[in-house]
Amino acid sequence: MNQTKTTTEPLFRPFMSEKIQLPNRTVMAPMTRKFSPNGVPNEDVAAYYRRRAENEVGLIVTEGTGINHPAAVAGDSIPLFHGEKALQGWGKVVEEVHRAGGKIVPQLWHVGMTRKKGDLPNEEAMPVGPSGLSLDGEQVTDPPSTEEVEALVEAYAQGAADAKRLGFDGIELHGAHGYLIDQFFWEQTNRREDRFGGDLVGRTQFAVEIIEACRREVGPDFPIIFRFSQWKMNDFEAKLAKNPDELERFLKPLAEAGVDIFHCSTRRFWEPEFEGSDLNLAGWTKKLTGKPVIAVGSVGLDGEFTSFSAAGTTSLDGLLTKLDKGEFDLVAIGRSLLQDPEWVKKVHEGRADDLLPFDKEALKKLY
Ligand SMILES: Cc1cc2nc3c(=O)[nH]c(=O)nc-3n(C[C@H](O)[C@H](O)[C@H](O)COP(=O)(O)O)c2cc1C
Repeated sequence: MNQTKTTTEPLFRPFMSEKIQLPNRTVMAPMTRKFSPNGVPNEDVAAYYRRRAENEVGLIVTEGTGINHPAAVAGDSIPLFHGEKALQGWGKVVEEVHRAGGKIVPQLWHVGMTRKKGDLPNEEAMPVGPSGLSLDGEQVTDPPSTEEVEALVEAYAQGAADAKRLGFDGIELHGAHGYLIDQFFWEQTNRREDRFGGDLVGRTQFAVEIIEACRREVGPDFPIIFRFSQWKMNDFEAKLAKNPDELERFLKPLAEAGVDIFHCSTRRFWEPEFEGSDLNLAGWTKKLTGKPVIAVGSVGLDGEFTSFSAAGTTSLDGLLTKLDKGEFDLVAIGRSLLQDPEWVKKVHEGRADDLLPFDKEALKKLY
């Protein structure tokens, strides 16, 4: 294993922003686990998140959880974020994480056109997306009407209101990886001619209205984190923004709508986003918006998401250098924290030899 030589101190500086304060710079990345029968997160899910909180994770972002729309998720063991039982379950999760001294936000999710007709939990529900196109451009359904899109906006707002009522520390909106919000961003999947379509800025309108509606529900002081990515599940090379100017035009409406923190999803945090600068996507986003940002992608691992195969541990030196320079504010850790609830604590205590490689068996259990 490649030992970390640099001090890990930058990772353990408190994060003090206006709306959220964290003891360190670590974030648990959202990871779908499929351990919530009938969409209800039970005690085992609460214990899973509590274990990370007990072991010094600064902020937990939950797995994607379905907003109140029949086609929001694909599968009956993905947690829902509506209905009495599911929300009660989430209330317990919050309670346990808070009791352990942690902070937690739910990731509000709608999968859009990645859902197949016949998928559980609502077999009859047709997938929905801006123009009814799959990520590969196949016409699968009719495009939703403007009113139907507005109803989707309100479903996110309902999730935000419930998150606040349940005592969560904020929300994260899943606008990445080719799911519903991202399908509105992407020209390949959004051919709409109403106000939710158009050029790069026009295609941000769905997200803008979601952010504004969530803000209306939660008030000015409740943190809204927005996750976005250039890459899509079916196309790792896709780009919403081909240069810094386009990225600025894309981010400005989102920042103005009320995003507090941008979560910039990349598969390898060290890769420069554009030629001529070392800055990664998070670095550019911070520079262009002035907002705090979360970086992510293969932290501490030598193989990237989404291969789901084994990955060995690597040195944290490159990450620490970028963090220390202030390129980004927070660091999300995915598979390492799925594998090992103690990952952050071990790093803090300098126990590099105890860090575990990622083993895909970890996907099968909820520990
Ligand atoms: C099992 C698994 C499930 C995931 N589910 C989600 C999800 O629900 N929402 C999301 O935004 N990203 C999801 N991701 C992506 C992670 O949040 C993260 O961006 C990715 O794993 C890269 O970080 P890593 O290299 O530290 O694992 C998932 C990743 C894994 C491994």
